[in-house]
Amino acid sequence: MSDDRPTIEALQVEDRTFPPPADLAAAANAKAEIYDRAAADPEAYWAEEAKALDWMEPWDQVVDRSNHPFYKWFVGGKLNASVNCLDRHLERRGDKVAFHWEGEPGDTQTITYRDLHERVCKLANGLRSLGVQRGDRVAIYMGMVPELPAAMLACARIGAAHTVVFGGFSAESLRDRILDCDCRTVITADEAWRGGRHIPLKANVDEALLECPDVEHSVVVKRTGSDVEWTEGRDRWYHELVADQAAECEPEAMDAEDLLYILYTSGTTGKPKGIVHTTGGYLTGVASTHKYVFDLKEDDVYWCAADCGWVTGHSYIVYGPLCNGATSVMFEGAPNFPAEDRLWDIAERYKASILYLAPTAIRMFMKWGTQHPAKHDLSSLRLLGSVGEPINPEAWMWYHEHIGGGQAPIVDTWWQTETGSIMISPLPGVTTTKPGSAAQPLPGVTADIVDEVGTSVPQGSGGYLVLTEPWPAMLRTLYGDDDRFVETYWSQYQGLYLAGDGARQDDDGYYWLLGRIDDVMNVSGHRLSTIEIESALVDHPAVAESAVVGRHDDTTGQAIAAFVTLKSEVHGDDDLIAELRNHVAIKIGPIAKPKSIVLTDDLPKTRSGKIMRRLLRDISENRQLGDVTTLANAEVVSEIADMASDAHASGDEG
Ligand code: WTA
Repeated sequence: MSDDRPTIEALQVEDRTFPPPADLAAAANAKAEIYDRAAADPEAYWAEEAKALDWMEPWDQVVDRSNHPFYKWFVGGKLNASVNCLDRHLERRGDKVAFHWEGEPGDTQTITYRDLHERVCKLANGLRSLGVQRGDRVAIYMGMVPELPAAMLACARIGAAHTVVFGGFSAESLRDRILDCDCRTVITADEAWRGGRHIPLKANVDEALLECPDVEHSVVVKRTGSDVEWTEGRDRWYHELVADQAAECEPEAMDAEDLLYILYTSGTTGKPKGIVHTTGGYLTGVASTHKYVFDLKEDDVYWCAADCGWVTGHSYIVYGPLCNGATSVMFEGAPNFPAEDRLWDIAERYKASILYLAPTAIRMFMKWGTQHPAKHDLSSLRLLGSVGEPINPEAWMWYHEHIGGGQAPIVDTWWQTETGSIMISPLPGVTTTKPGSAAQPLPGVTADIVDEVGTSVPQGSGGYLVLTEPWPAMLRTLYGDDDRFVETYWSQYQGLYLAGDGARQDDDGYYWLLGRIDDVMNVSGHRLSTIEIESALVDHPAVAESAVVGRHDDTTGQAIAAFVTLKSEVHGDDDLIAELRNHVAIKIGPIAKPKSIVLTDDLPKTRSGKIMRRLLRDISENRQLGDVTTLANAEVVSEIADMASDAHASGDEG
């Protein structure tokens, strides 16, 4: 280590534990033996998992390690992702529901595997009729309508890679992504529904395409029916394109290492990275983890409330669940439309048994209050999941009590767009969970926590999370930029994948994620993670959500600046602020006491709901704001900036 201080100091103490319910444990898909079996021979383990898929030709080699870090999985194998998601279920599950779809205005569709197969084949034939070929890239820019998963699978069927662009992104973001991977076809909708409003998707596409001269076709789903501009020869209605197509479509036999999709993810700096996922390893990873982490049973009603525009939607709405023949709920709209109990209303009506959400959503529900879930019978829920950010222990407890009825285990799943599939998570029938901890690496996954020079830190200390062995669903490269791929993920430490997150392991070997490395603060020479202080704030009964950043301080290097959103019914004043500062001092220690606390109605977030601490740092230091193009709620920033300058001018104290 470069000095005698730990890499990141870990201060949070959490001693509540929750063993798996006995009945779930007895019938679980994964039992304790799976860890030893996988550790004894990880390649044999993954090969066994890959056999659950339908292969057109078997592979010759499980993993080719000859060209680090460009690993190849299931070398020589051939398969088609849409066949694995659809065709192979037709005989036994043809009439089984694939999606209970619910639109925001309340319209519904019940889509069986047979229906979905037919929709996908017709669209695949339609795309072929437009000249889309194996090896092409297709951009998909839609709301959460059934045509979105159908479009992804139709591309997969004919061997074209899709790049889904979240429907909340701007015309500019869409343009950049189309250009970066040279898409010639865009699939979109007239508009999307969101929170009772119409999002002008087609108009955004029109604007983006002004600067994308190579795009030949746009295929447009009629969703809201509003008028849209039309470019003859380029634009085609989806329903017209598929109307006369055959209901069967010959799938392409894809190489295991052929491109399945590109998904762009924004880094803290620079242009978005086109994360490349291929076919065989990716499908193996998502199908296997979906079966074990969510303990999927034939009669489960599974609901991942993410958007297909994010990797969570790719892996755990589309490819994982469909490979496993699951029945899913898919919801188009906003969680507070028409009222703040919309999700609980849906969960009750479809008798959802598994629910997978982001902590940002959970904290929002905490803010709205327990009366909303209390109105509904949620007793069908037997398992809950969390993804996207560290879940604060109090948010975990709230989720457990108010959504899970104090019964349902919670799987806190750590992974990334880059990892493709869940990497660190409890197994619900095996793991005794601790609120706020993602528990352990899954079977077949090996992780470690290291210091600046790549040496494992002792248990109990914090450091940088790395993955030490390749895994099937790993990203293969950044589209068109192998150098940046190597530089970003593989150059820090010899042979190790750098995740970019801080973490610590407790004495039981449990992993606690500490947030992005870039967010770590340095106060009087102590490197502190933002998440632990945020969790201490959320632990106070008045607080719904918080964000903590380090701002420059002449004495201590950095000082802790906290931004806090209170629960709806709470009124904030200076006494409460003093109380919150003391609460952190008691929970964690005086070193972690925020120097300033700003109360705010909302926090700046990315469109996927992650708190943008970088902007809060800029605000705290009165700097020009950095890149705000990925910000979902721009108006909040100037409000916070005003309040922050007041707070720093008046309330600061040590
Ligand atoms: C964070 C989402 C703590 C982490 C699947 C990671 C988490 C980034 C967790 C990836 C979790 C995701 N606990 N942090 N359970 N899950 N993260 O690419 O910082 O949108 O690196 O993928 O989210 O975000 P991405």
